[in-house]
Amino acid sequence: MASAVSPSRPGVRPSDGPSVAPRDAGPTAPLASRPPAPRAVVAPCASPSGSGPVAPPAIELRGVVKRFGANTVLDGLDFSVAKGDRVTLIGPSGSGKTTILRLLMTLEESDAGLILVDGDPYTHEMKGRRRVALSERRRSLVRKRVGMVFQQFNLFPNMTVLENIVEAPVHVLGISKEQAVHRAKELLDQVGLGDKADARCTQLSGGQQQRVAIARALAMDPEILLLDEVTSALDPELVADVLGVLREVAETTDITMLIVTHEMQFARDVSNRVLMFDHGRIVEEADPETMFSAPREERTQEFLKAVLAG
Ligand SMILES: Nc1ncnc2c1ncn2[C@@H]1O[C@H](COP(=O)(O)OP(=O)(O)OP(=O)(O)O)[C@@H](O)[C@H]1O
Ligand SMILES: [Mg+2]
Repeated sequence: MASAVSPSRPGVRPSDGPSVAPRDAGPTAPLASRPPAPRAVVAPCASPSGSGPVAPPAIELRGVVKRFGANTVLDGLDFSVAKGDRVTLIGPSGSGKTTILRLLMTLEESDAGLILVDGDPYTHEMKGRRRVALSERRRSLVRKRVGMVFQQFNLFPNMTVLENIVEAPVHVLGISKEQAVHRAKELLDQVGLGDKADARCTQLSGGQQQRVAIARALAMDPEILLLDEVTSALDPELVADVLGVLREVAETTDITMLIVTHEMQFARDVSNRVLMFDHGRIVEEADPETMFSAPREERTQEFLKAVLAG
């Protein structure tokens, strides 16, 4: 296979080649210098004219099944997210939102079906009719394109803020320490924590820790960013800063975002598509204006009424 190492990813070894997709701007480019992506409401499968190839979706789930013991949480789930889309998943507790993000982070393993990232198999591929697990090496190559910010920050408590951000770019992407530190400092400035590089994470507020976690995810130059209720562990007065940082990421980069949130105003502002889940199935799919102002399905109406009342 031909190597396709992006010049925007310094330090990524040629042997890491084909899975490292080119990007418009590299890790050293400030967020604001990246052009925002054109927004497609529906993930394209074929070009409108029927001619010429169309880029594959950034994320595609095909018939994904996930069980925990006897509990089938996802039962043949299909959906796709076009490159540059910002898709919010809403739905009641236990409907499978986190499970989808954890599958996309390879923190859980699906029981059937396929996940594709940029058209590439992510954890399994089909060989004839057989579903075969990818090797760890192939998984880790595609996995690098996906970043996640968790509800509970998940920072390394024994490291400084800077060390938290630099760790993965150096050890996973192979970027030089000097470059990683430079980029980490840029990102810390962008999330408003330029003066906290040497602080221990335990010395920061929850909102500050979450902004470090966002900087840490961005330091990996992800093509896809998964956000799972990133403000729900925060005191209300800290929520706005974190959402402000994420709004800026959404406005100034082309990163595909899959967002789980109860912050409906944020979902409305940032996303171009909303999927309502119940029992692991998509019960409604719409643009945010329609979903939040005129939902079609009774289940969505009930859910939004409960969330907006709470
Ligand atoms: N590690 C696990 N072991 C067993 N069951 C699990 C595990 N993780 C999730 N589940 C089950 O899978 C279902 C979906 O859970 P999931 O966390 O994806 O829901 P959710 O939509 O994110 O809910 P919430 O809004 O409360 O975060 C639930 O029934 C849950 O109990
Ligand atoms: Mg959840």
